[in-house]
Amino acid sequence: MVKISIIGAGAVGAQTASLIAQRQLGDVVLIDILGDMAKGKALDIAQSLPILGSPVSVIGGDNYTLTKNSAIVVIVAGIARKPGMTREQLLETNAKIVREVTKKAVEHSPNIIFIVVTNPLDAMSYVVKKVSGFPRERIIGMAGILDSARFRYFLAQEAGVTVDKVEALVLGSHGEEMVPMLAKIKGKPAIDIIGSEKMKKAVEKVRNGGAEIVHLLKTASASFAPAAAIAEMVESITKDQKKILPCSVFLEGEYGVNGCCIGVPVVLGKKGVENIVDVEMTAEDEKKFKLAANSIREMIDHAEKYIK
Ligand code: NAI
Ligand code: 2OP
Repeated sequence: MVKISIIGAGAVGAQTASLIAQRQLGDVVLIDILGDMAKGKALDIAQSLPILGSPVSVIGGDNYTLTKNSAIVVIVAGIARKPGMTREQLLETNAKIVREVTKKAVEHSPNIIFIVVTNPLDAMSYVVKKVSGFPRERIIGMAGILDSARFRYFLAQEAGVTVDKVEALVLGSHGEEMVPMLAKIKGKPAIDIIGSEKMKKAVEKVRNGGAEIVHLLKTASASFAPAAAIAEMVESITKDQKKILPCSVFLEGEYGVNGCCIGVPVVLGKKGVENIVDVEMTAEDEKKFKLAANSIREMIDHAEKYIK
């Protein structure tokens, strides 16, 4: 059984641990600066497994020796943006946390594949790349699967169909400049089925998807859908499924972008990112994608200050 360590035992980390354990994707280690909390959640999850019929082990704490020889480390430690907090303040706090966590994880498992979740996602994926010095194949940011799932959900709502009838893809940044595209309902272009007004509404909703949940929860952000997205990535890697999934990866000229992490479709297998897949974009989407890259680059420039 491979070992999968999750750093950050908050809402997303704990739900991810539970899903990975239920699906028997590996033994799970849950780490948090709040060691007892991580230990307690790990115990709770472990005690669910006799009922759920999974033989994997789940342990928790604050000691990184527990993570020794992990195959995958999921970084989901950090804070969410609080009322009154600027994006810059969030970037500073989380960049410092992600830098520290990356160093500690690499110390105990030099060959890991990182899945990055902490926000601002694309900039934090860059931080992990820079601090670890790993090849880009082993740093994969989670956002596109979540945003695409939300897009499918909103399109299904607008069309009055079930989500399994809807395909969609969201590329670009995990933020205002995301690029929802390639939407299909029952195999036909979504816009032909629901019309441009409803299409516009679905696109706006997906852009606002994370914020809508924060508004409702008041003191927390989404966790169930993000955890499902992370588990899909872990599964594609551990089972070498080679699924094509939208993830944030460091581009070196692909899509006309160089030197930043941004959401594109990639093949995920046992080596991590095994290929970057080219999809054709309309001129308008291409323009939006470039804007997304520019805004990520700005964040990366700021993040650089905090990871020296
Ligand atoms: P949470 O507040 O429930 O959990 C965060 C955990 O990180 C806390 O338990 C905290 O003690 C821990 N932590 C803080 N500093 C640490 C350190 N230095 N070492 C180890 N653990 C540390 O937050 P939640 O909801 O689990 O979200 C976590 C992060 O993931 C946030 O930045 C959030 O914005 C991001 N996120 C990103 C998504 C994406 O699509 N990429 C989706 C959902 C959340
Ligand atoms: C989301 O999109 C908070 O990034 C997180 O729900």
